[in-house]
Amino acid sequence: MRRLGRSREYELTALPERLRHWHAPRANRWECLQVTRGRLDIQWLGEDGIAALELGAGSTRWIAPGTRWRVDGGNADAAFVLEIHADDATAAAAPQPLRAALLDDATCLTAADGPTLEHLLRTLARGSHCLLRTPFDPTAQVGAAIEAGAGTLAWHPLERTAHEHVALLVCAAQPIGLLEYLGRDHAVIEAALAGALHGDTQRMRWLRNVLARHLFIEERLLFPPYLAAGGREGWVRGLCNEHGHLRRDLARLDDAATRRRFLLLLDGHDEKEEQLVYPDILARTQAEQARLAVEVMGLGLVTDTAASNAAACAQGNMTGPLASSP
Ligand SMILES: [Fe+2]
Ligand SMILES: [Fe+2]
Repeated sequence: MRRLGRSREYELTALPERLRHWHAPRANRWECLQVTRGRLDIQWLGEDGIAALELGAGSTRWIAPGTRWRVDGGNADAAFVLEIHADDATAAAAPQPLRAALLDDATCLTAADGPTLEHLLRTLARGSHCLLRTPFDPTAQVGAAIEAGAGTLAWHPLERTAHEHVALLVCAAQPIGLLEYLGRDHAVIEAALAGALHGDTQRMRWLRNVLARHLFIEERLLFPPYLAAGGREGWVRGLCNEHGHLRRDLARLDDAATRRRFLLLLDGHDEKEEQLVYPDILARTQAEQARLAVEVMGLGLVTDTAASNAAACAQGNMTGPLASSP
């Protein structure tokens, strides 16, 4: 393990906003957090929802690559040091095991009809997630449950065939905000990608579907109100440009060079969005946030036509050279 750059000291009273939001060390980076004064409360996203930890003065915590964490509070006088370390043993372009496990570990639950699904949605344990299989389209029913819920229910639709609909259903221990949901959606994309790279054709189909839906969410549901609220056009243009590269490379993942480019681009893209862009989107669209959250979190799979319309729309609106990518 090799330390990169210098140690950075932080005080809770003057904390950069990004440390209060979910963020994660990059693919081959570890963060070392040492509390130097007071008590610091941190949270991280485990497979079963949010886990919390109180760290006293003198304690040290290593945060693994890909682990989403944030500072949640602590004593007013709390202070800590954060260091970034490079893990030379981890390939920069490999999806993280923690994220890959998201789909592998999910329990499979089948709801044969509407009443069974309704019961399942009502009784899903807090802090659990499952692969929901239904022989009918559950979008309207799940969307209504998400809207009626207290913000703890979310889903990530994965596949729709003539006989079956499959989705990852999450019932978090605490309400899931839009920012956290989008971070989870990145994790689902990476989990599907991990399976696809091992030759799993089902995971490859899931990857295509979740990525198409995710890009649709950003290009059609989030970027327009963000730009209307004075958001940074250069950032959006840069992200839409990268979406174009991701869409193109997705079709050629069997080529080693393309695969490496896709993995590196996706990693950096997701990190930029989670650390810079999403927090800015949320800050500028505060008034619409409840509506946006329901719309995004309840969205079903998007059709190929809708996704390509979104791509065309993004390219049409964002012509010209990249101005200022985040
Ligand atoms: Fe994006
Ligand atoms: Fe994204």
